[in-house]
Amino acid sequence: MHLHRPIYLDYNATTPLTPKVIAAMRPFLEEHYGNPSSSHRYGRTAKAAVETARGQVAALIGAAPGEIIFTSGGTEANNLAVQGAARAHPGRGKHIITSAVEHPAVTEVCAYLESQGFLVTTLPVDAAGQVSPEDLAEALRPDTLLVSIMHANNEVGTIQPIQALAALAHQAGALFHTDAAQSVGKLTVDVTDLGVDLLSIAGHKLYAPKGVGALYVRSGIKLEKVTFGAGQERNLRPGTENVLEIVGLGAAAEEAAQTLPQRVSHLIAMRDRLHAGLENVLLPETVRLNGHPEERLPNTLNLSFINTEANILLDTIAEHVAASAGAACHADHVDISSVLKAMRVPIEWAKGALRFSVGSMTTGEEIDRAAEVIAQSVEKIRSASH
Ligand SMILES: Cc1ncc(COP(=O)(O)O)c(C=O)c1O
Repeated sequence: MHLHRPIYLDYNATTPLTPKVIAAMRPFLEEHYGNPSSSHRYGRTAKAAVETARGQVAALIGAAPGEIIFTSGGTEANNLAVQGAARAHPGRGKHIITSAVEHPAVTEVCAYLESQGFLVTTLPVDAAGQVSPEDLAEALRPDTLLVSIMHANNEVGTIQPIQALAALAHQAGALFHTDAAQSVGKLTVDVTDLGVDLLSIAGHKLYAPKGVGALYVRSGIKLEKVTFGAGQERNLRPGTENVLEIVGLGAAAEEAAQTLPQRVSHLIAMRDRLHAGLENVLLPETVRLNGHPEERLPNTLNLSFINTEANILLDTIAEHVAASAGAACHADHVDISSVLKAMRVPIEWAKGALRFSVGSMTTGEEIDRAAEVIAQSVEKIRSASH
């Protein structure tokens, strides 16, 4: 695909739309412009489309349609979950627990709540990026109202033991939210199996457009709204629905549900082919895998190359491969990503960390070409610095 363009290995940043998603959306660009709140036929068509999408998203995660609230993306879903839960239970307490590897869409909400009088405990992670249930058990208090821990990490792909963590939160009487922006569409995600109360979805990580997402709110869980307006989305997310993109998200969810096992095998094959391709050329002791070797997203390969700087490597491969850096080296200091820092990746490794994330459109030919370019570039940078 597009061999004249850089090979896209940044699916955790965002994904293209699949042909099925585009086809589902097209009539809503070209013809169906009704407002779902209107009672005439235009409105009814739009409303029916939104409800179909709600059912498709619900089915993908084992929820009931009435438990899905459409949002403008993962960030808004996280805001609604964390702020909405914190504000809805004033009698419960003001203690929130989160982890050191969350996306800013959770950490920044927690920091804001802290400035408003809430107390936040941030749990550490181990070298593979996992939170330990023992640490959560120790941190839980009678006034803990919410635990928010992501399902899978965007940078290193590490999957958290959500089932165990949610069970502990519930034993202590707290709610459990998980940011599943990176896992929905790449892993089997079932809200009942996971035992979560709230779960965030970001459309553009699963081949739907940017600017749409959803929050699963388990039936019976009370949330306070964070935006004010008319009564759409069970009065939790007012504003005229983004029908076009909600339809896209529904189609993407349906496609994910129908193809997940094949998609996962393909992702693993591509990810591991890239890893093997690089280790065939570069000495294995000069390459380090960041993240959990097994409990990891099937598409994510975060590698550190010793004696390289991530941004120089990214620039060197830029014409041929698009990926993302885990650190930015400046003249006098190095900015290491907060995730790699939390995992205590030694600085000499963290400096040269790149994230490669493959997708359903990635081909073996692309992977082989990318491995060749990346390995050659690493060798070139290493020899120039000696
Ligand atoms: C783990 C995680 N949470 C939340 C988000 C934010 O989602 P969105 O870009 O849809 O606001 C992202 C994506 O950048 C993410 O990777």
